[in-house]
Amino acid sequence: MVPDRLLGAHDISTSDEMEELGRAIGSELAAGDLIVLTGPLGAGKTTLTRGIAEGMGVRGPVQSPTFVIARTHPSLTGGAPLVHADAYRLGDAAELEDLDIDLDGSVVIVEWGRGAVDAIADSWWDIEIERPVGEAGDAPEDLDLDAPRRLVITRVG
Ligand SMILES: Nc1ncnc2c1ncn2[C@@H]1O[C@H](COP(=O)(O)OP(=O)(O)O)[C@@H](O)[C@H]1O
Ligand SMILES: [Mg+2]
Repeated sequence: MVPDRLLGAHDISTSDEMEELGRAIGSELAAGDLIVLTGPLGAGKTTLTRGIAEGMGVRGPVQSPTFVIARTHPSLTGGAPLVHADAYRLGDAAELEDLDIDLDGSVVIVEWGRGAVDAIADSWWDIEIERPVGEAGDAPEDLDLDAPRRLVITRVG
């Protein structure tokens, strides 16, 4: 479960802070929990997921799943695995269903999953990350520089 105290908006100043929030979330997750992650390229989706993986105690490394549809990170502590999926190149929701992800036995994070997870689940947490425009870090060459992000966590369903 993502605890209620973490619901709502978070202003995140650095990538370290993003990982720290991820660790706080990850340490509370259990098998059956599903998170949908939305945000533009470079928003920090993978950075957040890296923190979640650390908080869960699963094997890394967490990488952008762009070249695989889903990657499973087994637990290092006998807990639930993390399935990190990318719905970006899935044609439709049916293809997400075809992946046959073990939703009950894993923690599942689906990047770009909005509008697709409805096919496989009744409830989940929606996390949206925004990069404010016109801030430092806006130019492509500044992508790695610490810059503000706004993250909003909502319970759906
Ligand atoms: N406040 C912040 N939160 C998260 N990442 C940040 C922040 N400021 C700068 N960054 C940088 O932005 C990039 C985010 O990349 P990544 O997590 O791969 O994004 P995405 O998976 O959304 O495309 C990283 O290079 C990270 O260092
Ligand atoms: Mg990514």
